[in-house]
Amino acid sequence: MAITIKSEREIELMRESCRLLGIVHKEMEEAIRPGVSTMDINIIGDTVIRKLGCIPNFKNYNGYPASVCVSVNDEVVHGIPNKKRILQEGDIVSLDAGLIYKGYHSDAARTHGVGQISPAAQKLIDVTKASFFEGIKMAKAGNHLHDISNAIDAFIQPYGYGIVRDLVGHGIGTSLHEDPQIPNFAQRRRGPKLHAGMTLAIEPMINMGRADVDWLDDDWTVVTEDGSWSAHYENTILITDGEPEILTLY
Ligand code: MF3
Ligand code: CO
Repeated sequence: MAITIKSEREIELMRESCRLLGIVHKEMEEAIRPGVSTMDINIIGDTVIRKLGCIPNFKNYNGYPASVCVSVNDEVVHGIPNKKRILQEGDIVSLDAGLIYKGYHSDAARTHGVGQISPAAQKLIDVTKASFFEGIKMAKAGNHLHDISNAIDAFIQPYGYGIVRDLVGHGIGTSLHEDPQIPNFAQRRRGPKLHAGMTLAIEPMINMGRADVDWLDDDWTVVTEDGSWSAHYENTILITDGEPEILTLY
């Protein structure tokens, strides 16, 4: 499938979908504190999405059973919310959510600390976020997709963190996952050329230790193989002829 170029009308719908998702993320973020369950966070996300008149796009996606992915500590992504999984002081928690507004999808993720966290955990969160911003410096019409991948990789390398290779970013629009796939690690080919009107979800997943991941028996939860903690930072962006527009900032 070719990479879709959104029309001005579609871009407006993507902007609104992404703006609404920002509201959802903000409400979930405000609820994070020791004693809250990962299911509590999912309920807030699901409720806000529906109150805004939107549809949670993760729910039932390939059978995913919830509206939000809530991944704690060594869980990389796709953690299934559970009322028995209680957030503790010092944990880090990654919230990944998306929604559909008038047929257009948005997708964003953030990792937050629960109460006071260690300096090492805070650094992992900060560096993961910074790698996204390094990557999107290359995200403009005329550049190639893998310029983004290479920039993220080059930025992370000096920290010695593991860049997850088994999961990647993606195009987004009338589906949650459109072409192209967007790796967060160095590529030998340049990849497709970027054009104004492409909408992409760029989402580095970075482990404090090695890059290798495993899947739990629920077939969803991705965990680090070495038990090290992991952070995730994702925004839906719009490629333009100049600076990219980050649609899911809030
Ligand atoms: N943001 C993730 C992604 O882009 C989450 C989707 S997985 C789901 O792939 F199953 F929960 F939808
Ligand atoms: Co995504």
